[in-house]
Amino acid sequence: MDQVEQHRPHVLIFPFQAQGHVNSMLKLAELLCLAGINITFLVSYNIHNRLLRHTDVVSRFSKYPGFNLDHYPDAYDESKIHTAQQIMELYSSLQSVVKPFLREFMSKDPAHGTGKNRSRFSSIIADGILSLALDVAEEIGLPLIYFRTISAGAFWTYFCIPQLVEAGELPFPGDDMNIRIENVKGMEGFLRRCDLPSFCRVSDLTSPDLSLLLRETLQTPRAKGLILNTFEDLEGSILSHVRTYCPNLYTIGPLHAHLKTRLQLQVANSNNSNSNSNSLWQEDKSCIKWLDNQPPKSVLYVSFGSITVITREKLHEFWHGIVNSGVKFLWVIRPDSIKAEAGDDVLKTTKSTPEMELEEATKERGCMVGWAPQEEVLAHPAIGGFLTHSGWNSTLESIAEGVPMICWPYFADQQPNSRFVGEVWKIGLDIKDTCDRVIVEKAIKDLMVERKDEFLHRADEMAKMARKSVEEGGSSFCNLVRLIDDIVKG
Ligand code: UDX
Repeated sequence: MDQVEQHRPHVLIFPFQAQGHVNSMLKLAELLCLAGINITFLVSYNIHNRLLRHTDVVSRFSKYPGFNLDHYPDAYDESKIHTAQQIMELYSSLQSVVKPFLREFMSKDPAHGTGKNRSRFSSIIADGILSLALDVAEEIGLPLIYFRTISAGAFWTYFCIPQLVEAGELPFPGDDMNIRIENVKGMEGFLRRCDLPSFCRVSDLTSPDLSLLLRETLQTPRAKGLILNTFEDLEGSILSHVRTYCPNLYTIGPLHAHLKTRLQLQVANSNNSNSNSNSLWQEDKSCIKWLDNQPPKSVLYVSFGSITVITREKLHEFWHGIVNSGVKFLWVIRPDSIKAEAGDDVLKTTKSTPEMELEEATKERGCMVGWAPQEEVLAHPAIGGFLTHSGWNSTLESIAEGVPMICWPYFADQQPNSRFVGEVWKIGLDIKDTCDRVIVEKAIKDLMVERKDEFLHRADEMAKMARKSVEEGGSSFCNLVRLIDDIVKG
């Protein structure tokens, strides 16, 4: 670091160790680097190595001398996280291993030693589910802003859980999951039991996963501010409720589109790489060539994100539904995403005649990869729809490109996200809690054929709003400027 860089604010960014969190927080890191802020991006040793192995993060960030990628000792292998139970295990190791590390890391200044007010950092941006960072920041006296990687809508449903319990709406009195929920302000008209985060589907409210998420969410107002990867035109009415508890809100999304716009504004010849992948798996770019040969808006992109694991039975229902729809498809099947015996190839083990026909049709109409360059895929003119698990990054990436969705949420925040897509924004179909080949086939035909124009029109309107929000003068643009000002002022 030269002398100028030494006098710049230095922000420690500390994400939760999972793809969706690292991805969006690294985008924020780059936006702050572009504004001349020094960043230390702190991840687990394993994530650090995966980023180095699968991305060009080192060369991409080499143009920002104030950027530093650092790591803490592995507390838990994040590639094992597929269930709420595993998230719980990760948390307990974060407390025992990472919290002491963080205390030392945050309070030490190589130039001036260790102790209160000796940190080399001017502030911290921590993942909004890592209150251990907030505890340490308060001990040391450093300002901390939270970054929550979920939608405002999902955040708000978590935040309202105490009201639901008080009103007797939780635990669910009865089995009918279609009953309306009345005590999440702003969502009275459309939220059903089945649309609450999956962790609410418990008979015992002291269940560890719900308690943990609730505890993490309810302490959000302790932070100096809250950054959300969303934009005002998308979630304005819910944001007004969130603001009553967290008034210092920075809505700066969609972050990937925001970063892209800022990078395009940089001088075109400044050696900017087109790829800004933060993937923890190796991207298979061959699918882009395959897409290049498909007609516009003809291909369904199928991906269930970085955590989802599905049974062989469900996979087969999707496979039949997708192939029977007659639509062309690009399907991401992560190597670790299927509950199966090691070594058996799910799409080739059964060899009955109908299955062989299915395989033939798959070869004719489909392309399958283990991990795709998703942002590039969704921006490709051949893509006409997205069958998604409704992770928030995937949802925003689809919205920004005007791609309508079929939503099959897996867990956590994905249940409310899919309700917003289907019922509030009306840019897709919500097929949660069903996994039947006939329903899948019908949904694809509806989205990609029968109601194609209607969905594309609405998705296109939404994409325009997303773009407007990150352009100069747009709400996300202005909020990022405010965030940068606040970081600089300290
Ligand atoms: C989960 C949550 O559901 C999400 O809302 C939360 O913010 C983080 O944890 P995940 O399953 O990882 O997320 O889904 P999502 O939020 O959609 O993130 C997946 C990311 O991986 C996206 O940015 C997507 O572009 C990327 N991806 C996915 C690829 O780059 N290639 C792929 O093949 C699949």
